[in-house]
Amino acid sequence: MAENLRLQLEINGQPQTLLIDPRVTLLDALREHLALTGTKKGCDLGQCGACTVLVNGKRVLSCLTLAAQVANQSVTTIEGMARPDGSLHPVQARFLEHDAFQCGYCTPGQIMSAAACIAEGHAGSAQEIREYMSGNLCRCGAYSNIVEAIQQAAADLSREAT
Ligand code: FES
Ligand code: FES
Repeated sequence: MAENLRLQLEINGQPQTLLIDPRVTLLDALREHLALTGTKKGCDLGQCGACTVLVNGKRVLSCLTLAAQVANQSVTTIEGMARPDGSLHPVQARFLEHDAFQCGYCTPGQIMSAAACIAEGHAGSAQEIREYMSGNLCRCGAYSNIVEAIQQAAADLSREAT
């Protein structure tokens, strides 16, 4: 039995301390230890993208990241996406408007990945969005609506920035 590690990290802007087995993934730390169940486990093998979160603003697969690797770093999950006044982030709002989900299980990962895709500058065209969102699988086949939602959210965010 490995000795537990004490980790400090920032989750959705709040400092958190975890006392966990060093083998615990970031995904399981969020879900099982912090009760943040918005981040989903579709495969636990890095193949589906349902577990996508942001670490220091960059998208990562939390099933392939040990919690210990993100000590002292800043993690954003779907629960941290709404604005401080409670309004939805533009990516969330446009997903709703464009019906960019059905069962909703891939959706938190899609939304986190989409926010990063826009921030990376990879939302220039539908083709580019399809390519840079191809790490997030959707069995419900919402892909065309996801692309539309991302195009609209990218436009919203660039308007906000000017
Ligand atoms: S659960 Fe992480 S990629 Fe599938
Ligand atoms: S909305 Fe069901 S898997 Fe994407």
